[in-house]
Amino acid sequence: MFKRASSLISEAEVFIITAGAGMGVDSGLPDFRGNKGFWNAYPEYQRLGLSFEECANPQHFAHDPHFGWGFYGHRTKLYRETIPHDGFHLIQKWLEKNNADCFVVTSNVDGQFQKAGFAEDNIYEVHGTIHWLQCQQACTPDIWENKAAFVIDSGTMRAVNELPRCPHCGTIARPNILMFGDWSWSSRRTNFQKQRFDRFRVDNARKKTVVIELGAGTSIPTIRMLSERMGSRKNVSVIRINPREPEINAPHISIACGALDGLQRIDCQITT
Ligand SMILES: NC(=O)c1ccc[n+]([C@@H]2O[C@H](COP(=O)([O-])OP(=O)(O)OC[C@H]3O[C@@H](n4cnc5c(N)ncnc54)[C@H](O)[C@@H]3O)[C@@H](O)[C@H]2O)c1
Ligand SMILES: [Zn+2]
Repeated sequence: MFKRASSLISEAEVFIITAGAGMGVDSGLPDFRGNKGFWNAYPEYQRLGLSFEECANPQHFAHDPHFGWGFYGHRTKLYRETIPHDGFHLIQKWLEKNNADCFVVTSNVDGQFQKAGFAEDNIYEVHGTIHWLQCQQACTPDIWENKAAFVIDSGTMRAVNELPRCPHCGTIARPNILMFGDWSWSSRRTNFQKQRFDRFRVDNARKKTVVIELGAGTSIPTIRMLSERMGSRKNVSVIRINPREPEINAPHISIACGALDGLQRIDCQITT
């Protein structure tokens, strides 16, 4: 299995990296798999009886923005402080070795691929990013960088700092992330990223391509479905790395490992 994965990687002219929350776990980030996973990461929300879907909800920014920013401010700080694990750099080493082109598609909002040095222009963040802000009333499609400093009271999960505001209308801003029941997400940046990704796929349609999927769960299967759709082409092989939900139909490769472990074990098989 690792040998087959390593051969596909050695021969690949194009890499498409598809990633879900599991990609961040080996950097120390939580995934939100089920309420149990979410509440392990955020016990305060268990006490309040709030699920991930209820916390990741734009209504808090309208009704109680300090509470809304408690969740997102905490994550902003966490993602800023996190150092991407070595798996990111193993992929970069393979890209260099093959002189291959690469595009990253991720449902993560944490900006870890940019932080690890992947090219901003070749990243498609399907659910947006925490590192950009928008108006909560969508008075403008404009977005701007999240430079706010957050202080979170961990007992109440409320942001106690002054909150960032929309420069156009003065309303309290929110992260440029697609939330649950969200009608005001500004999708402009993500739409541009998608256009670049679509062009990348057309330009590389005939090349030998490997899709490496890392830590994408089944509860919101956007990333898994995309990997599988791409894998339906003859010149595209998918390697799915996931410790708990690794299943994928042959001839694609299923690796039941954490992201870092799986990438390292593949790397051991790649001849220099
Ligand atoms: N870091 C982030 O940006 C972040 C974190 C949590 C959730 N989210 C959001 O929540 C939604 C959750 O969907 P999801 O499928 O990305 O996450 P998920 O939490 O539903 O699933 C995580 C997946 O990662 C796997 N996993 C656990 N540990 C792993 C490891 N060490 N290596 C590799 N895989 C591992 C799990 O088996 C699971 O399949 C997404 O839409 C995303 O936008 C984002
Ligand atoms: Zn506004």
